[in-house]
Amino acid sequence: MDPNTLKQRVGQAALDYIQPDSILGVGTGSTVNKLIEALGQAAIPLRGAVSSSEATSALLRKIGVAVLAAEEVDGLDVYIDGADEIDASGCMIKGGGAALTREKIVADLARQFVCIADISKQVEVLGSFPLPVEVIPMAAAQLARRFAAMGAQARLRRQADGQPLRTDNGQHILDVTGLHIDEPLRLELEISAWPGVVTVGIFARNKASVCLLGGPDGVATLHF
Ligand code: A5P
Repeated sequence: MDPNTLKQRVGQAALDYIQPDSILGVGTGSTVNKLIEALGQAAIPLRGAVSSSEATSALLRKIGVAVLAAEEVDGLDVYIDGADEIDASGCMIKGGGAALTREKIVADLARQFVCIADISKQVEVLGSFPLPVEVIPMAAAQLARRFAAMGAQARLRRQADGQPLRTDNGQHILDVTGLHIDEPLRLELEISAWPGVVTVGIFARNKASVCLLGGPDGVATLHF
């Protein structure tokens, strides 16, 4: 089935997790864009949203949702976001859309992470999708050598014009292949401690509590 249809279905299903008059945490990516569309059509009144990227903020404003700064809120009930991979315990790889740092910050504000994904994102072990790591530019080469020493390969993410991609935070992204992430929390903590790493795209500390997984037979709700 067309992944776009599956994304639409999970975007729609996620509306059940949104309380009227609440402040919602909103992630980034093509699946979240479907959620924002559904939210616009359902017209659920919100006090506002905390967004994980400039792209999401623009879409939220278009449907009339006020975008609040993370500093203005002291907690959120729910954060809804997609994933590049999700394993059987709710740990994820995120950052394919380069928004991983703000995604982790907003996810950390929330009591519940609701992951919305099509079934292609479900994996047994994380690591087939290249692991995004946001880094301070001066540390990129040094960090790439650290990954090489682990038997992995880190590649600097570039834009269409060949220039290194800059995130919303002005940093670079390394995409790391060759990792078999069977202990996501351990690896998240290890890489997070390396000098120059801003954020690693393993979400194990901030894993999903619920995943709405869209497949050909409908939307399955997984609890972790
Ligand atoms: C953005 O940086 C990512 O973490 C996205 O949440 C993830 O890449 C999923 O994106 P799609 O919904 O576009 O697959």
